[in-house]
Amino acid sequence: MTTDGDGGSQTSELRREEVDGDRGGSLLRMRGIDKSFGGVPAVRDASLEVGRTEVHALVGQNGAGKSTLIKILTGVYRRDAGEIEFDGQPVEFSSTQQAQTSGVSTIYQEINLVAMRSVSENVFLGREPRRLGALDWRQMNAETHKILGRFGLEDVDVTRPLGSLNVAVQQMVAIARAVSYDARLVIMDEPTSSLDEREVATLFDVIRALKASGVSTIFVSHRLDELYAVCDRVTVMRDGQTVADLPMSEVTKLELVAVMLGKELGEVRRSGATGFGEGAHEARDAVLEGQRLARGKMLRDASVRVGGGEIVGLAGLLGAGRTELARVLAGADEREGGELRVAGEPTDFSSPADAIKARIGYLSEDRKTFGIVPEMSVRDNLTLALLPALSRRGIVVRQDQERVVNRFIERLGIKTSGPDQPIRELSGGNQQKVLIARALALEPRLLILDEPTRGVDVGAKGEIQGLINELADDGLGVLMISSELEEITEGANRVVVMRDGRTVAELPRADVSQEAIMAAMAHGHEDEELDGAATAGANEAPPKAPEPRERDG
Ligand SMILES: Nc1ncnc2c1ncn2[C@@H]1O[C@H](COP(=O)(O)OP(=O)(O)OP(=O)(O)O)[C@@H](O)[C@H]1O
Ligand SMILES: [Mg+2]
Repeated sequence: MTTDGDGGSQTSELRREEVDGDRGGSLLRMRGIDKSFGGVPAVRDASLEVGRTEVHALVGQNGAGKSTLIKILTGVYRRDAGEIEFDGQPVEFSSTQQAQTSGVSTIYQEINLVAMRSVSENVFLGREPRRLGALDWRQMNAETHKILGRFGLEDVDVTRPLGSLNVAVQQMVAIARAVSYDARLVIMDEPTSSLDEREVATLFDVIRALKASGVSTIFVSHRLDELYAVCDRVTVMRDGQTVADLPMSEVTKLELVAVMLGKELGEVRRSGATGFGEGAHEARDAVLEGQRLARGKMLRDASVRVGGGEIVGLAGLLGAGRTELARVLAGADEREGGELRVAGEPTDFSSPADAIKARIGYLSEDRKTFGIVPEMSVRDNLTLALLPALSRRGIVVRQDQERVVNRFIERLGIKTSGPDQPIRELSGGNQQKVLIARALALEPRLLILDEPTRGVDVGAKGEIQGLINELADDGLGVLMISSELEEITEGANRVVVMRDGRTVAELPRADVSQEAIMAAMAHGHEDEELDGAATAGANEAPPKAPEPRERDG
């Protein structure tokens, strides 16, 4: 790759060579792959080549065709054209199951485990150990415990229903399940999108251990920085095509972004790290205020105040109680203790609908249960929360709905064939954009965002951050949870830190840095100056052992 920023013909020639170059003895070789859906090409003449004991990154913008290419390999989709060789043999897997028995184990972008079943049942789904014809629960639970131990999850109760655990733990269980198969190739489609730094580090240790034992990995991620920590090579897709295949060591992050976006290096360099501006918002009157909120073991004593026009970051490790606090503030769970105020008035939400009436929008981290309705169209998903407002005597006014929908499709660059398309057909990142649009379409005065840019590509991420910033300028209050610290440090005017279900520190803009946040997350208030309402009650919090890791954060 050239480094001087000419994204022109020279670069594309280089790319072509790299793509076509034969690397002998590959474990996986996919070539000339085509796939269309209803006449619209999703993947065109794409290739992917993975060496033996290689960690291979697969990157590209939302909708570039990464997941489709993977699903073609694993037999979820049938390809229209192209060849696949695995371990030197032409293959044609007709199902994920068959791919798995042949040594290709996949963690799909959508966690597809069974929420009602226990953790151990999920890990052993379809290959449960039996004794005298009956399920051998003891062995299954013991094995599961052992497998999860590799991921630092020895505290998880493997008999609990998977759905009762938070998204990050569910994702770790999905990964543990995939890795527990005797695989030659493990595919991870955005495994880290809901994991925090500590969990990502654990996952990388596992990937390195897999590599040491001869297993290759395909790793899809929009967090480009992390690719450098584990990946040997990278394949870049754009508009369904493979546009580069390079050793990680020969490409900088900026070059990678440039190739992904099909832009020149200079253009990419001009934009900052995140799309947030200076972050200097004036907080207006408090819109939403929680005082000493408590619910169950996970939320013990949390206080937070968000004013109009400010972005408040909510930081904490997994198990700190961030999501629990967000859910109580958004009416998804009822508080058991403490007080809730909207615009200074004591309030109680018994459902998210109550919060919506108070014009408080909520984007949940749990895209599956709180998010999209797969069978419904992009239009209906986007306006779901808005329907009452769009109706006249119970009938939706189509024109109004269409206007809202088109505005957001354009504004957020949602890649779809149109408002009628079922949302399940959209790429992961584009589904996330629809959910953000749904929250914004309510024209809330306060927005609670749990992982707003998860799974969203680098370009769109900046756009969404820019939009949040702009809306805050116009008076919207925002409470933002993000496992990407950069998003918090650059976006927030103020950061509230949680630990063990309690708010333990509040950092004003001037004191916000990754180091300060991490210190507060780890040690709580001892090192921090307490500041007003947001930390009320924290003084009584004695230092205590961390919660079991299965708890949410
Ligand atoms: N079942 C389907 N029906 C119709 N179109 C589909 C289907 N699956 C994928 N597509 C389309 O194919 C294109 C590529 O989608 P894909 O999911 O492969 O993207 P991706 O690179 O994984 O993106 P992301 O980073 O957002 O996950 C998109 O335009 C998507 O809408
Ligand atoms: Mg995808």
